[in-house]
Parts: sequence; C-alpha cells; structure tokens
Amino acid sequence: MPVRSTPQGWTLETNTTAYVIGLNSTGDLVQRYWGPWLPYPEDYPPPPEATGWASFNGRGQLLPEEYAPWGGLRYTEPCLKVTFADGVRDVVLRFESAETEDEVLALHFEDAHYPLRLTLVYRVHPVYDLIERQAIITNTGDVPFTVERAFSACWHLPADGAYRLSHLTGRWFDEWHLHRDPLAQGVTVLESRRGLTGHHHNPWFAADDGTATEDGGDVWFGVLAWSGSWKLTAEKTDFGRTAISLGVNDWDFAWRVPPGDIFSTPVCYAGYTPEGFGAASRLLHDFIRGQILPHGSATHKILYNSWEATLFEVSAAGQTALAEQAARLGVELFVMDDGWFKGRTSDRAGLGDWTPDPVKFPGGLKPLIDRVNALGMDFGLWVEPEMVNPDSDLYRAHPDWVLHFPHRERTTARQQLMLNLARPEVQQHLIETLSALLREHNITFIKWDANRNMSEPGWLPEDDHDAREVWVRYTLGLYQVWGTLRERFPHVIWQSCSGGGGRVDTGILRYADQVWASDNTEATARLGIQAGFSQVFPASIMEAWVTDMGRGVVPLRFRLHVSMTGVLGIGGNLAAWTAAELAEAAHWIGVYKTLRHIIQQG
Ligand code: DGJ
Repeated sequence: MPVRSTPQGWTLETNTTAYVIGLNSTGDLVQRYWGPWLPYPEDYPPPPEATGWASFNGRGQLLPEEYAPWGGLRYTEPCLKVTFADGVRDVVLRFESAETEDEVLALHFEDAHYPLRLTLVYRVHPVYDLIERQAIITNTGDVPFTVERAFSACWHLPADGAYRLSHLTGRWFDEWHLHRDPLAQGVTVLESRRGLTGHHHNPWFAADDGTATEDGGDVWFGVLAWSGSWKLTAEKTDFGRTAISLGVNDWDFAWRVPPGDIFSTPVCYAGYTPEGFGAASRLLHDFIRGQILPHGSATHKILYNSWEATLFEVSAAGQTALAEQAARLGVELFVMDDGWFKGRTSDRAGLGDWTPDPVKFPGGLKPLIDRVNALGMDFGLWVEPEMVNPDSDLYRAHPDWVLHFPHRERTTARQQLMLNLARPEVQQHLIETLSALLREHNITFIKWDANRNMSEPGWLPEDDHDAREVWVRYTLGLYQVWGTLRERFPHVIWQSCSGGGGRVDTGILRYADQVWASDNTEATARLGIQAGFSQVFPASIMEAWVTDMGRGVVPLRFRLHVSMTGVLGIGGNLAAWTAAELAEAAHWIGVYKTLRHIIQQG
C-alpha cells in the first residue's frame, strides 16, 4: 500500500523511497522522514518535538512543520497567510481527520476559531518515486476571508545537513544556466513576478549535501506545476534545518474566498534518489512523459520553421518555395511562423486578428496547406493568442479587454499589450477564434507564443473578487482556453513558446506537447542551454532547430548534432543553402529518423 496510516502518522511509500509525516504531542503536523524506503513502519523516526525552546525561538525554527500557517511565534517562511473579516491575521490549525485511499492521503484541519478548513492532499506516484502535494483552503463560514499566501508544499530536508541548492537561471536568449550554490543561514528566493513562468528562473530545485554527482549521492528534488508567477523559498534556519517551499507567488497576490468556496493551490511534485542528479532527472523525465504530457511518449516529427528565414516577409510564394525545399530534405512538418495574419507586416500591427492576411494570401491559407500536404508534410501555424497590438481590429473593438489600470499608461512591450485572460469573455473569444482557424484548415501543429510579461495587472472585478486575484485567474484562464482547444482538437500537437523558454513548466505541459527552449539557436551556446534544460525536462519536448546562426563559422554537421539531441528542426533560409549543405542536412535528417525513438524516449 503506497499510503499507510500508522499509530504515529502516515507513511507514503514509492517503489524505493518513503515520505513519512505525523502529529507530534503538541498536535503539529511534522515531517518525520524522507529518504530510502525502510522495511517496517517502526523503522521510521517518531514525530519530532519542539526542543530548545527559548523566548526568541519558535516552532518554525525548531520543527519541520508540513504546512505552517503564519501565526504565533513563527518567523520562518509560512505556507499560509490569511486575513479574516474582522482583521485577525493569523491562523491556528487543529487536526480534524484523515482520509486514505490507495495512493491518496487527505488531511483535514480546522482553524481553532474561524471558519477555515485546510485540506492537505498527498498523492503517491510509486514507479516515479514522486510525491505530489496540494493544499485546498475552504471557507466554511458565512463571511469572506482573504488568502494572502498559500503555497503548494513545504519540503524539509533531513535535519542538520549543510545543503547545496541546484537551480536554473537565465534571461531572454540565454536561459537554463545550471547553478549549484551552498545554502547559508537565511532565505534564498527564486521566483517569477511576471505572470508567466519566466526565462529567469524555473520552478525546479535539487538539493544535496555538496557531494552528489551525476551518477551518485542523495538528491532531493521537485517542481511546481504552475505557469504564472511563482515563488520558491529555500530557508536554512538558525537551528540548521532546511526547508524548500514552492507555490503561487504571494507578491501582489490576494484571493478572497467567499462563503462555501475554496482556493486550491497548483500541485507540486518532489522526490528523493540516492543515485545522483542523473537519476533525479530521469525520474522527472519519465514522469513528465508518462503522466503529464497530453501525447505522452509520442515521437515527434522533424519540422521546418520559417521564422528565421523570412521574419515578417511572409508570402504564399515564399512559403511554398521553402516548403518544397524542406520536403526534399526529409522534413515531415512545415510550420509557418509569425507574419501570416491580417496586417502583420512588422511587430507593430495585427496581433489579435487571426485571419490570413488578404494581401499575402489572397486565396487564404488553403492553397499553401494543400501544397504542403501534397509534398507529404503536415502543416503547422504560429499564433500568439494572449497578445494584441493597439493597431488591430480586436483592440479597436475591445480596448477594455487588455490588462490595464485606469488613468495609467498601458505599457507596451514589442508594441503589444496582453489580453486579460482572467475575463470569461476573453477566454470565450479566444476559444472560438482559434477553433475556427483549426476547423477551417488542416492544421496539426500550433506554436503558441507569448512575447511579453504582464504589466498593469488591473482588473475591475464585477463582484466579490480581490483585484489581485488576476495573477492566478489569468493562468487559470489560459489553462481553460488551451484545455478546451485540446479537447476539441485532440490530434493537434501544441508547442509552448514565450520568446524561447519563458513558459516551460509542468503546468503548461499538461496542454503543450513540446516547448521552444530558447530563441538562441547558435549551436555552441545551445549546448549549455540544452544541458540545463535537460536537468528537468525530457528531450522529447525540446524542439531544437538548425538555423543560419553560426553558418560559416560552426560546421553544419556540428549544428545538426546539437539539434539532434532534442526534437530536430530546421529553421535556416534554405533558399540560401548550398547544394552541399542541403545534401548534408538530408543525410543527418535520415540518420535522426533511425535514432529519434531513443533520443526522444530513451
Ligand atoms: C519569438 C519566438 O521565440 C520565435 O521563435 C518566433 O516565433 C518569434 N517570436 C515570432 O514573432
């Protein structure tokens, strides 16, 4: 049984590991153990008690609390912070009941006075050695309260260790740098305040005692399944305890929970392995392929993408010529990137109007798609549904649909504003517009781009909401739109892109089968980018194009080999490639077809 109730608490056992929790004598839910599986429940240590009490010490410093609310003598990072209707701002939790079912454990707590119920949900993924966690906060009373922080989980590392945190940093065009930094006393924060996952950090961690290698050593690791603003705190207390918490970012966040309603956090997955960083990556890769990706372990096609060849200079004749050259190389999917839709002659106009540009495509997209199909390739299309240029029919019709504050400038980035996906009418508009595009054309692949982050996150709530809910409601709206489209068009393969790797996480991977890891396609830079990426994500989701970056400097064979470590794509201007280059590319595309099932799924 993966989940067991014992006199001292609950054991969550995977194939080779155990995560063990329990209530101590003061009623605090505490972590007892996280490491290799042990034969008998009695082998796991009892719930720790708060010893070392002094007037300056509190529970947070002394105890590995599973989900500490802010309140009392707690000065460490809490998981939960709430303001009640009368202004009281701390939470006192009392254990109420537990439900166990096969691989799931739900623990219910009630506030000692106020009508707040907290449910901690644990799910065991035995074959992947992963534990999934989520918190659900319910208002059982008759007046609203406001949640100001609700993390998904806090993961305690075994006591008294000196730990090193592995994490990823970057920026646009330069994502996925792997760092391994010792944790000092205090709090290390990794986060996104951007409304999207971000290029700058990724909601992933791996922790070890400084001695783990790729092939060996104890590693604890985890990811947050969330594509909006997020926060990770790694805190080492003055008593030497280390805890890593992940959740929705509490920066400018609040959620008003009306009577009878709930706030659910995103889920967080974490695991332990004694076999080093490589094993931790492989567990995540297997889990992502086996449990998260919509098309699971599907092997992906070799695509051609037109962006770097044409930028906005898109025409029916030019795309047809590129498609013909791509087909001769052995490409299986032709993707027309930005520049195809109404008014899109530069980045200044057109976003929002998702119909073919009548000047570039007087006969619509059908003739091009038919030609691509006749060449034996599938057809794919680029869209950026969340965005709008002020110079677009959509913005002229609905200027109120973008994120904005009244009396403030609407700050553009790349000449564009963001639609407020928290609004149901915006969600519906996108669902219907994209459905029409997919219904009317033979499109089997969509690249979903997002080329800016949120600003002026205003939202005039129509009812009882707190305007700061917009950060979370936006992401839920995105999931709603994407999820509906997936249901309506299950055959379509979706790629998540945000100016490269700005929206790559285990939340979006429930909708997107692939991601565009970086706009930087220069092969030597790409080596480091792809190595960092591979810490968390499998090769099967990593689209990697050979473009003209480095052409004449770095041998084509090397550039192909680098892209062949993921899902190979071609993105150069084939019209300018020599016969020798085309022949070499065709050769390696042929080789890739014989190897890709191992590369993508191995
Ligand atoms: C950013 C993407 O990362 C590029 O690949 C390309 O699709 C451009 N946007 C198009 O505007």
